[in-house]
Amino acid sequence: MCAIEPVLQVQGVSIEIPTRHGTVHAARDVDFALGRGERLGIVGESGSGKTITALGIMRLLLPPAHVTSGRILFEGRDVTTMHPKDVNRWRGNEVGMIFQDPLTSLNPFLRIGIQVAEVLEIHRGLSRAQAMAEAEQLLRRVQISDARRRLSEYPHQLSGGMRQRVVIAIAMATRPKMIIADEPTTALDVTAQANVLDLLRDLTEAERTSVVLITHDLSVIADFCERVLVMYAGRIVEEGSVDEVISEPRHPYTQALLNSIPRLQGAVGRLPSIPGAPPDLTRELQGCPFAPRCPVAYDRCRTEVPELLEIGPGRRAACHLAQPIPSNITLEGDLAE
Ligand SMILES: Nc1ncnc2c1ncn2[C@@H]1O[C@H](COP(=O)(O)OP(=O)(O)OP(=O)(O)O)[C@@H](O)[C@H]1O
Ligand code: SF4
Ligand SMILES: [Mg+2]
Repeated sequence: MCAIEPVLQVQGVSIEIPTRHGTVHAARDVDFALGRGERLGIVGESGSGKTITALGIMRLLLPPAHVTSGRILFEGRDVTTMHPKDVNRWRGNEVGMIFQDPLTSLNPFLRIGIQVAEVLEIHRGLSRAQAMAEAEQLLRRVQISDARRRLSEYPHQLSGGMRQRVVIAIAMATRPKMIIADEPTTALDVTAQANVLDLLRDLTEAERTSVVLITHDLSVIADFCERVLVMYAGRIVEEGSVDEVISEPRHPYTQALLNSIPRLQGAVGRLPSIPGAPPDLTRELQGCPFAPRCPVAYDRCRTEVPELLEIGPGRRAACHLAQPIPSNITLEGDLAE
């Protein structure tokens, strides 16, 4: 859990999606907090529930997906029960969103300047002239060269990296308290990826904006975040500071994710993937969902679901082997002598 004053508290949130093939348990009992100015990463393979969790937090789930239990508090206010009108105001003024494909956030038929200016007019009450002047400043802040000319260009005239900078400018235009970025750099080449992350870090640090960064790539988390949540099959399976989780992972799934990143291992060559496939999310849990792929699984793993337990200061893991030894246990027999 975060040690600093929380902006966001996600308390035991579960999300289900009824389908023809059964109910998909897309998020199960997701529980975490985000501190003010903190950069938190959520990492996990495809289908682990990262996006669904973010959409649930933002009250953007499309039916039939819905939250079945839990609460989401933003600065103490319960977002789960907020009136839709208040949700819109909250989303527009206090939270910014950045998605993988900037073209989903930008209108292809509108010039860049108008798109940035509209946000400023609606949320900051600026006149069109004021908003256009501020839009130019914002484009400069996100390091778009020749900002004045860019104002009159259309999204397709910009490179992918530049489009994502425009999306960041729009997301930051309302001076939000929290940004949720879902795979913001996945579609970009490596250089643009690093530049966009640097920019996002600089801007959010300057404004003390909290960030939730979602990615399937632990190396992005290592570059950008202070704390990380590892998700598997809709559950948080490990949490800790990025340094600790990377240097001493306590869940075999985190270890497997780390093994699949040559750069963090100092190795080169083909990117290995984690053998096996994630479980069917329509099934009820019987034991640890990672057991069929876990190299150290044992009998208990197949019958008992490991709870997400605190295993040290600021660290949690959901693995029978990661559990701390209770302090009231005394050694008996040979070992104690
Ligand atoms: N509309 C839907 N209908 C049915 N199942 C869905 C729907 N949306 C998501 N899911 C399922 O919910 C689970 C979680 O999906 P989610 O999109 O959150 O994964 P993710 O971790 O964001 O993956 P990725 O890295 O591919 O973006 C997946 O098993 C997915 O198939
Ligand atoms: S609980 Fe068992 S199967 Fe699950 S990750 Fe831990 S050791 Fe592996
Ligand atoms: Mg996703």
